[in-house]
Amino acid sequence: MNQRPLPKATVGEPAAVIAEVFLPAAAKGPLLRRPRAVAMAERFGLDERAVRRLQKLHSRHPAGPVLLRLPFRHQALALAPDHLRYILGHSPAPFPTASSEKRAALAHFEPRNVLISHGPDRAARRRLQEQVLDAGHPVHQLAGHFMPIVRGEAEVLLRRAEPGGLDWAAFVESWDRILRRVVFGDHARDDRELTDMLTRLRADANWAFLNPRRTKLRNRFPTAIEERLAAAEEGSLARFMAGMDTSGKAAPVDQVPQWLFALGNAAMPASRTLAVLAARGEQAGPARQEARRDETGGRHLPYLRSCVLEVLRLWPTTPMILRQTTRSVQWEDGVMPARCGVLIFVPYFGRDDRHLDHAHDFRPGRGLEEEKPGGWPRIPFSDGPAACPGKQLTLLLTSAMLAHLLRDRQFTVAPHHDLAPGKPLPGTLDHFSLRLAVEPLPTE
Ligand code: HEM
Repeated sequence: MNQRPLPKATVGEPAAVIAEVFLPAAAKGPLLRRPRAVAMAERFGLDERAVRRLQKLHSRHPAGPVLLRLPFRHQALALAPDHLRYILGHSPAPFPTASSEKRAALAHFEPRNVLISHGPDRAARRRLQEQVLDAGHPVHQLAGHFMPIVRGEAEVLLRRAEPGGLDWAAFVESWDRILRRVVFGDHARDDRELTDMLTRLRADANWAFLNPRRTKLRNRFPTAIEERLAAAEEGSLARFMAGMDTSGKAAPVDQVPQWLFALGNAAMPASRTLAVLAARGEQAGPARQEARRDETGGRHLPYLRSCVLEVLRLWPTTPMILRQTTRSVQWEDGVMPARCGVLIFVPYFGRDDRHLDHAHDFRPGRGLEEEKPGGWPRIPFSDGPAACPGKQLTLLLTSAMLAHLLRDRQFTVAPHHDLAPGKPLPGTLDHFSLRLAVEPLPTE
């Protein structure tokens, strides 16, 4: 066993990683995206630069994980698939999800959420999340309630978009209606009050410890959720949860904001997928065909699901998976100390053109293939025992929405986003500025 510390980044490298990886990711807003920072990231290729920086670091330090000497703590970077698999496979112990920055951020709106819980608390909360989200099944038990919601809101959106075009504001308004109906039932369709409260708390959470907590709003938020849980309708996630054992440590009220927050984020891959398909007829064709031939009411759309997965590889919505060791961990190349922060930078694994063929191209077929043992990891939803339990629900709702939009309409994307085939796709796709023209399909 190698008792020495892990290989350390050399002079200048920690500063470069902070400037090119941590700061741009933090500026974009980990909990609530900041439109100007996202636009800047696309314009100046900041995500491309972050990936290149980590490739360089990995080439110089192939052993690892690599330690960065930071003034305030030890920080490690996992840059090899084996290291990443070990870390995610050994979460929550000794690599808990509750890193200090994540605890500080999420404490603004879900202080007892599974993501920042330990031990038996975490186990009870994880169990509840898996049950309510029906994590093990591609089609949620409540799909019979959800699918008509998606269809209805897609139709409203298309009616609204056809004359003037479809922009992010219209898309997200419609998506927020879907998610409130899915979480609480139809009566919550226009309940913007709760969405607005959460938006303000997420804006605070972007600053983690640096922002003073809004005590009044933070105290009001759980009460607002409790009121909505009490009014939840049959067929909603909240009513589904009411039928489960939520006694003891499960903290049901604190699990709900994660649904609202994470389902809200799914609007990003949904709108980006629509934009990429609008720019690429070769892949829009099979997507539309699948939508037209579908006899499952939107439940089984493997090609569209693979499109969303491919978009999440290209533009992951959780770019930083963070862990923090509870004890020192022995690696082949040295020891990782206790309380060491660990960063898995998801775009690095998604866009590493040293290992992935066509890393900057949109190839939905990739998502249909099984991940090969030892292959390059696909981790937009993380992996292992703490992986996202909302993955299947995300794919169900986004693919169904896309099917309804695409079936009888043709979309064109404004030319300032260069998504055309044959060119490498940008490292950032600014969803705020997406604008699509919508027309009925010409009759054959
Ligand atoms: C675009 C869609 C989504 C993406 C890319 C995504 C990604 C992720 C990732 C990467 C994690 C692991 C975070 C970490 O370990 O630090 C995670 C955790 C989690 N996600 Fe998602 N997620 C999405 C949607 C959802 C939805 C729709 C829900 C629920 C309705 C959800 C619920 C959760 C929960 C409860 C956890 C915590 C799991 C745990 O700590 O055991 N996610 N998600």
